[in-house]
Amino acid sequence: MIKNIKFLLLFIAFPIFAQQGGMWVPSLLEGQNETEMKNLGAKITAQDIYDANNSSLKDAIVHFNGGCTGEVISDQGLLLTNHHCGFGQIQSHSSLENDYLKNGFWAMSLEEELPNENLYARFIIRIEEVTEEMLSVISEDMDLREKQAALDQKQAELINQADKELWQEANVKSFYAGNQYFLFITEKYEDVRLVGAPPSSIGKFGSDTDNWVWPRHTGDFAVFRIYADKDNKPAKYSEDNVPYQPKHSLPISLDGVEEDDFTLVFGFPGRTNQYLPAVAVEQITQKINPSNIEIREKALEQIDAFMQQDDQIRIQYASKQARIANYWKKWKGENLGIEKSGAIQTKKDFEKRFMQAVKAQGKQEAYGNLLSIFEAQYQEFEPFAVKRSNFLEVFFTNTELLQISFRLYQLKQSANQGENQFQQAQANIIPMLERVYKNFNAYVDQKVAENIFPLYDEQVSTKQIEKLYKNTIFTNQKMAIEALSGDVDKVVKAIETDPLYQFAEDYITEFYQILNPNYQRIQSEIAETQKIYMTAMMEVLPEERYFPDANSTLRVTYGQVNGYQPRDAVYYNHVTYLEGVLEKYVPGDYEFDVPQKLIELQENKDFGAYADANGKMPIGFIGTNQTTGGNSGSPAIDAHGNLIGLNFDRVWEGTMSDLYYDPEICRNIMVDARYILFIIDKFGNAGHLIEEMNLVHPKANSTEQEVEKKKKKGWWIFGKN
Ligand code: ARG
Ligand code: GLU
Repeated sequence: MIKNIKFLLLFIAFPIFAQQGGMWVPSLLEGQNETEMKNLGAKITAQDIYDANNSSLKDAIVHFNGGCTGEVISDQGLLLTNHHCGFGQIQSHSSLENDYLKNGFWAMSLEEELPNENLYARFIIRIEEVTEEMLSVISEDMDLREKQAALDQKQAELINQADKELWQEANVKSFYAGNQYFLFITEKYEDVRLVGAPPSSIGKFGSDTDNWVWPRHTGDFAVFRIYADKDNKPAKYSEDNVPYQPKHSLPISLDGVEEDDFTLVFGFPGRTNQYLPAVAVEQITQKINPSNIEIREKALEQIDAFMQQDDQIRIQYASKQARIANYWKKWKGENLGIEKSGAIQTKKDFEKRFMQAVKAQGKQEAYGNLLSIFEAQYQEFEPFAVKRSNFLEVFFTNTELLQISFRLYQLKQSANQGENQFQQAQANIIPMLERVYKNFNAYVDQKVAENIFPLYDEQVSTKQIEKLYKNTIFTNQKMAIEALSGDVDKVVKAIETDPLYQFAEDYITEFYQILNPNYQRIQSEIAETQKIYMTAMMEVLPEERYFPDANSTLRVTYGQVNGYQPRDAVYYNHVTYLEGVLEKYVPGDYEFDVPQKLIELQENKDFGAYADANGKMPIGFIGTNQTTGGNSGSPAIDAHGNLIGLNFDRVWEGTMSDLYYDPEICRNIMVDARYILFIIDKFGNAGHLIEEMNLVHPKANSTEQEVEKKKKKGWWIFGKN
């Protein structure tokens, strides 16, 4: 309790300086954050961003399928997110005949919009702090298990008792490593349809070569629409559903950005680890990343080659490849950045300062041994953490037959728990396998396994893997489903006698009996140390600035449009143009081909109303907003609350920002809203979508008519009148 009050005081006592970085809780912006935003040029207030009682910017923001962000851009529920966030949906509607990945897709009417199974958009209705309630149930005499049980129980209670409507949901999340808790009331819309996507040669232009890199020329956007029932409430897909009417939709600025303009990125960052001790960062970058990078590199060698040879495989493996390649490259960048920025030394210096402060304040007893506890814990953790992580790479992320072996193992285990358990597991596994087989090519998978398995167990030879794929029935969907249908004894026998199960059993047993339990046990001990370390840092070094690590909750990060200097004598400008696409153009290339129509539009300077003041077509810009995975699709918002771009990546030199944020070189990458409009209108001929939107000129003096229109919509506060 007392801890909690100190917590609040700490926030108020900070001196005001130009804030760099941070991912802030939107309901707590009043005070220091608001002042900082003003200093950076914001005209909107904290209340314009988040207001529990009136509509505010947050009412236009959604968590897109739990992994990305989206924003509503019309009063008909039109939703914008990244091409790479809608990639799975675009792929699932694609075939050799209708290759939307390759050619793009534009619904010309509501009827043509494509429904998607298992896709949702979740709005945040309200955020409430529940720290006192949560922390009141734990005490120092409890052990870790008891603490966790008490917290879980309290959390369930808070969720159950939450004041909410029937169709709403509640959730509780931990912040500052368990020092603060918030309750979220949300609404989940499950009828979200695909409206439009550019071809991959625009939406994924530059592919893996340009991924995580600036200068960038990717039109990484896709358009969806949220549907609701007749009362505008969440509903499963139905023909009777109608376009959702939002509490707020973002106006879109046609005025673009200049260097130093204020930018706010509003979305759902997934996970950061800003406050790890040096020893943890060392382990991640020197042990875990390198081994995983190697596994993925070997997998991609095969997948990439097959995809370039065969269109069917290209479509089937599109999402898988993108997922594997994305973090393969991210980890490489993270390692480089941590090394180049000297982050580990900086962390060690910080730890020295921390220890001095602990001593100076006479707090050795409480905090003096935290760092040596970390040392011991991470040392014990290392072998389990590395091997468990490699196991997941090999048995889940990169090969599908091995993923199937894992499911077989689980199904067989369930048989030991009784008839009921087995039947439930059996009912689950069959649709799951059907999803896997939909995009499965046994030969590609075999080649991947041959390449990567020796990295996990050097005793296993290529020949052995080859034989395995030849002899198991589980490369064949029909035979697999048949083998897994019927009563327990038959199914268990089919599993046990198959070479796949025989091959995988020992590895999976090791995972369940050794790797995972030890990992979980030490992980929760580390989490407890991290919690105390977090409290301690804020207490003994209060002049530092602490934001809560990302945890997939709604956050605000603000900054400015800014170029950067990646290395000596090189400066990167803050904006890219369509001309740059033609500079990168490689005819017929799988990464850098350019659609003929886009070339013509550029040559004729046929940019409609979307060019900048110099008659050029802007594509991307970078800023000092601190973002991470999950911020994809987040709106970049100007000083007045209008949409100016769509966040989709970070720059190469700054990919280490999840572990260590350096304001000098960390930049987020956004696609300019004007390029999105241009592609929809001029390239996709989907001008009817533009008509739904509210396009504004915040930098020019608004005409009276525009002011009237904004007032009518209730959003006049955001215009500069
Ligand atoms: N790097 C961005 C993000 O983390 C974009 C990923 C798009 N995928 C790709 N393989 N190009 O999601
Ligand atoms: N592309 C990332 C995503 O999918 C966002 C970029 C980042 O990680 O900064 O969320």
